[in-house]
Amino acid sequence: MAKVKLIIDTDPGIDDAMAIFYAASEPEIDLLALTTIFGNVTTSQASRNALYLIDKMGLDIPVSQGLEFPRVLPPFPPSSNVHGVEGLGTLHVRPSPVSPINQSAPEYLVEMAQEHKGEMVICPIGPLTNIAAAMDLDSNFCSNLKRMVIMGGSLRAGGNITPFAEANIYHDPHAANHVLQHGKNIMLVGLDVTNKVICPRSFFYEIAKHSRRLGSLLLEMSEFYIDFYETVGKFDGCGMHDPSALIACVAPELFQTEAHKLRVCCHGESSGEILVDPEGPGNLVDVCVEVDIEAVKQKFFQKVTQLP
Ligand code: BDR
Ligand code: CA
Repeated sequence: MAKVKLIIDTDPGIDDAMAIFYAASEPEIDLLALTTIFGNVTTSQASRNALYLIDKMGLDIPVSQGLEFPRVLPPFPPSSNVHGVEGLGTLHVRPSPVSPINQSAPEYLVEMAQEHKGEMVICPIGPLTNIAAAMDLDSNFCSNLKRMVIMGGSLRAGGNITPFAEANIYHDPHAANHVLQHGKNIMLVGLDVTNKVICPRSFFYEIAKHSRRLGSLLLEMSEFYIDFYETVGKFDGCGMHDPSALIACVAPELFQTEAHKLRVCCHGESSGEILVDPEGPGNLVDVCVEVDIEAVKQKFFQKVTQLP
């Protein structure tokens, strides 16, 4: 079977790192590049973390740096309580000798979508600012993609950064609204499913037993992430948000979806909330509502344990 040509738009981030490690270990994925965005960290730290992770995995792929600020709102502080001051828990990220490419993420995404017309999947696992900007640059951007699989939002599961909003949507609701209303062929992997894919500490200890070098990095990062989840008293383990979206790129059959027209609330206390809008202007979005939890965890485990 042909591999999925994939670009991940990311704000690494501990679960972003898990997702990137998974993508690198999945034989069905041809990882073309990473593009970076603010969210868990600033955009420049996101690029630094992306380059650090690529270096650790020995991958030779470009990193294109994205936009620094939300479409309309002022910037939010990075989520250092969830992901650590540098974004990867207690790991100290050394600067890479390699730099991001000169082309900015929106331009690069437009060009790559044209070059790989009809074949490329983009998986945004951070705020949607770069994606909205790419759509502004090229009205055919979404039509040129094979699929867009977004980690973000929540239909019925409430929020995680506020009672109403999931973090990626909250950090740039205007961009998210633009993408969900005017984008095409979108699958939304939100908290309705990712809050169910919870992995305990023992899961990462097992991974590190098989994947001594990279698995140990995952284990160290997961400790910080799980400490956060336990402190907020929600889970006994951590939510596999971004890895679930990556798995949906290659195994959509593990997810059940409902098709809805959506819009995003952009003001007030419910800013970032996803609303179903049957009469709205948008296209239908495939929103994940159920997931085969064990199959997703198993797929992640089976693949990342192959890493060195
Ligand atoms: C999303 O927000 C970020 O903190 C995570 O990396 C993930 O992309 C989960 O709400
Ligand atoms: Ca993320």
